[in-house]
Amino acid sequence: MVKKQEGVKHMQSFSFYSPTKVIFGKGTELGTADEIKKFGGSRVLIVYGGGSVVKSGLLARIEQSLTSAGLAFTSLGGVKPNPRLFLAREGVQKGIDFGVDFVLAVGGGSVIDTAKGIAHGIANPGTDIWKFWLKEVEVTKSLPVGVVLTISAAGSETSDSAVLTDDETWTKRGLSTEFNRPKFVVMNPELTYTLPKYQIACGVVDIMMHTLDRYFTPDEGNAITDEIAEALLRVVIKNGQVVVENPTDYDAASELMWCGSLSHNGLTGLGAKKDFATHQLSHELSGRFDAAHGASLAALWGSWARYTYQEKPERFARFAKNVWSIETNDCKLAAQEAIDKTVAYFSSLGMPTSFSELGIGVQSEEVLQDLTDRCVFHGARTIGQFKVLNRSDVYEIYKLANH
Ligand code: NZQ
Ligand code: ZN
Repeated sequence: MVKKQEGVKHMQSFSFYSPTKVIFGKGTELGTADEIKKFGGSRVLIVYGGGSVVKSGLLARIEQSLTSAGLAFTSLGGVKPNPRLFLAREGVQKGIDFGVDFVLAVGGGSVIDTAKGIAHGIANPGTDIWKFWLKEVEVTKSLPVGVVLTISAAGSETSDSAVLTDDETWTKRGLSTEFNRPKFVVMNPELTYTLPKYQIACGVVDIMMHTLDRYFTPDEGNAITDEIAEALLRVVIKNGQVVVENPTDYDAASELMWCGSLSHNGLTGLGAKKDFATHQLSHELSGRFDAAHGASLAALWGSWARYTYQEKPERFARFAKNVWSIETNDCKLAAQEAIDKTVAYFSSLGMPTSFSELGIGVQSEEVLQDLTDRCVFHGARTIGQFKVLNRSDVYEIYKLANH
């Protein structure tokens, strides 16, 4: 039996470290080589994905700028969404062979997280990088990483986190360390114009979730943090819709891109416990079914919220009022309406709100049990803070989404 979570009523002590230099605006990718040099790079490994940056010509432009600046480089392409451990390991070897001293990610969260893993591996040549993810070895040094961002979503460009999937066991795990903070990120919203609408919508959900997974906390007394979180959510909801409808709206794409970084650099949860249960639940879905990260979150959040809101309906009522402009004095009603509105918003973007809409179908009892066991590390952990979720809670949430 897990005890009801006791929240505190004042700002908790925190440390905030967001050292990533942000270079924002049209054409900023042209300054990439200069930034690499400023951060001490001379031999660069460029990491990219499945081909979008080749097709758009971005990779060629970056390579040209590195050549003009006299930087030696080699490349590693083929990073897949839900990035695989084996490719990161391959990148480590390639980097060591080439004498790389800087890793440049050109892409989204999957590419950036692969680059982070490679940077740790090159700096620690005797250590298999998965040991860092399994928390068997601590990261104490790494190589500098720079980013040219092509999608507003994961926030990895300023976050302290990196998520990889072990393709032998289909286990998806995150690693948090200050060594995961990139040195710089180049953000040109125009680079997102080529994204498919589905992927933009996944990004909108993920950006919202990085703040929602912090906002739903048992703690109170964080006026500025809460107001920043609510403002960010309102801006993402408004502009996310615009970008999904018109991916080349520069102003809306700019708001979305900047929100993507602010939502996951730590700012929207300072001074309070973080929840992140929906993220933990979703990693099991992405690991097992290779489902897109944002879509997995959308498929689960409504079930998480409906299962947990009674823990503290006042918090959901505040969310209802300040994010969705829902005016009612009945806390529970406000909470339910806000959950419905959020889920309806995900649907309006074309995002799934159940397993079948996610495209994985209704799952058997056996699969639900397996997802649950993996999520709670076979009983070794609980997840969440807004409501601490034990094995049976986790199972119930999966079950609620299983239609
Ligand atoms: O591979 P390419 O061909 O480049 O296509 C990608 C990929 O198919 C495509 N894409 C990206 N930019 C594009 C584009 N297509 C056309 N034009 C462009 N400009 O989008 C697809 C998805 O790319 P991906 O990098 O996977 O997207 P995202 O940024 O959403 O990253 C998701 C990954 O990040 C992890 C997720 O779990 C997932 O593995 N996360 C990382 C976090 C972190 N490090 O802080 C936090 C997040 O919570 C998340 O867990
Ligand atoms: Zn996320």
